[in-house]
Amino acid sequence: MYQLIHADCIQALRIMPDKCVDCIVTDMPYGVRIGGQDWDSPENVRHLIEHALPEMRRVAQRTVLTSGIAAMWLYPEPTWTLAWYFGGGARGRWGFNHWQPILVYGTDPLPSLHMHHTDVIRSTSNALTDRTEHPCPKPLSFMRKLINRVAPSSADVILDPFMGSGTTGVAAIQLGHRFIGIEQSGDYLAAAQRRIAEARPDFPHTLDLNAKDISCPTSRT
Ligand SMILES: C[S@@+](CC[C@H](N)C(=O)[O-])C[C@H]1O[C@@H](n2cnc3c(N)ncnc32)[C@H](O)[C@@H]1O
Repeated sequence: MYQLIHADCIQALRIMPDKCVDCIVTDMPYGVRIGGQDWDSPENVRHLIEHALPEMRRVAQRTVLTSGIAAMWLYPEPTWTLAWYFGGGARGRWGFNHWQPILVYGTDPLPSLHMHHTDVIRSTSNALTDRTEHPCPKPLSFMRKLINRVAPSSADVILDPFMGSGTTGVAAIQLGHRFIGIEQSGDYLAAAQRRIAEARPDFPHTLDLNAKDISCPTSRT
């Protein structure tokens, strides 16, 4: 089951109950003005860290986000970190980073399950990802590996408050999770809706385009 919401996530998160989802997995804006987008300005990233991140940590047991390297210093200290490693290529040859930080607020689920765990998620880079209608989609293979790492039970409900074109949602429902996605842009939301429906046409869903009636299908009710 999945639910897509067209809203400013700060407003949408504020009306969600405490700890109503297991895991937020999200790709926050990096603050690099990708494609000249205002939502990717450093000022907006500071605004989101101040107003959205506390709400994310309130509604989710565990919050997992890609921050980008430059913006990672703006975030409060995470509980633990993962690395997204995407190989060398030209970046390696010229000495630039070929990994990006993944910040996690909340406990690591794997040690208590006595499961093997690695802190490095290997995948292709953004530059090599499948193109979508979004200027910076994450690779689907990366999102699938990340969700498997931070939400090992398919009973876990996954929320992405910065859904973009819905890569987290496609990965989550392919892995059998329930998913809630929030996106402020109608165009990106429509792309996410199409991609998720193509990935699992059989999944029941709700399109709550005004965020008036968010249901929290928590696995703990
Ligand atoms: C880095 S992109 C996510 C891309 C996504 N991972 C994908 O694969 O398509 C961040 C998204 O956050 C959205 N966004 C920024 N501020 C927002 C807010 N306050 N509420 C909801 N969405 C927001 C932007 O419109 C953008 O689509």
